[in-house]
Amino acid sequence: MSSKRNFIKKIWDLPDHKAASESVFLNRREMVKGLGLGGLALTAGNLSLSGNAMASEEDPSAALYPVRRNKKYTLGEGRTLTPERINTKYNNFYEFGSHKQIYAAAQALKIRPWEILIDGEVEKPITIGIDDLLKKMPLEERLYRFRCVEAWSMTVPWSGFEMSNLVKLAKPTSNAKYVRFETFQDESVAPGQKQFWYPWPYVEAITLEEAMNEMTFMVTGAYGKPVPKQMGAPLRLALPWKYGFKSIKSITKISFTNERPVSFWEELAAKEYGFWANVNPEVPHPRWSQATERDLETGERIPSVIYNGYGEQVASLYADLQSEALFK
Ligand code: MTE
Repeated sequence: MSSKRNFIKKIWDLPDHKAASESVFLNRREMVKGLGLGGLALTAGNLSLSGNAMASEEDPSAALYPVRRNKKYTLGEGRTLTPERINTKYNNFYEFGSHKQIYAAAQALKIRPWEILIDGEVEKPITIGIDDLLKKMPLEERLYRFRCVEAWSMTVPWSGFEMSNLVKLAKPTSNAKYVRFETFQDESVAPGQKQFWYPWPYVEAITLEEAMNEMTFMVTGAYGKPVPKQMGAPLRLALPWKYGFKSIKSITKISFTNERPVSFWEELAAKEYGFWANVNPEVPHPRWSQATERDLETGERIPSVIYNGYGEQVASLYADLQSEALFK
């Protein structure tokens, strides 16, 4: 247990400003060298390291994008869209490494065929391929803020659909109280999954009520294209009022449950990463303040806001839960 704790301390103890200056602003050559990829064939033919996201060209859903923007969701005063080139090259995806430059490694993930199992407390379990799911869901674009527990933040033009539509498709029974999400498990493509001290596969969970909230968005695209692999293709969650670790990537299983599931980070360090994980600048992480956040593009520190500014939409979810640790 204590070694687990020390380990967590090590990986998430990197002062945020240091992580950023060492990564976001590295030039291409330094990045390739730093990754030890100098000898690999990172040529334009198989992997583009320039400019835009590496949305895979073979993605059969590419023609669906861009989708109509839902103008109800704006970034708020003073916030602008984080450029794609930053967002797609500064990622947390531990399956591909416990550092921020996993974008090249993540290209090994095969995203077709991709099936999602919907099971548990539902009328009937369903297995659905991502392209069939895309056909059934009303796709739209939303501009959302994103706040990582490590105190950096960004904004993203996500494409996808409101999770409530998937809940309707799943037809949960009256026993269902929580929704549990699971990421793929395949250590042949995701070397991070060979690290046995992590409780793979990555798991996250929310309440059924949270799943029905209008803000809960299932992401299938970003920047007017299919979502790139490093950002969680072909299906991830976006919960913009919660710390970023709740927004699970590359989902293969969605289970409706009666008991509260234990998530990946909660299992590793429950005192630091709880079930609720709602953003609150007044509740510090045990090892750092949450009062401000660093904008990934400008590097500026900006004040953090309770529920990441989405209180109007989500605060009522927690009105009767004040005895819970809602903010870690
Ligand atoms: N999902 C999976 N499967 N594996 C991960 O390591 N990291 C989480 C979350 N979802 C993670 C994940 C964390 S800690 C963050 S901050 C966000 O993804 C990062 O999303 P981004 O890389 O698109 O910025």
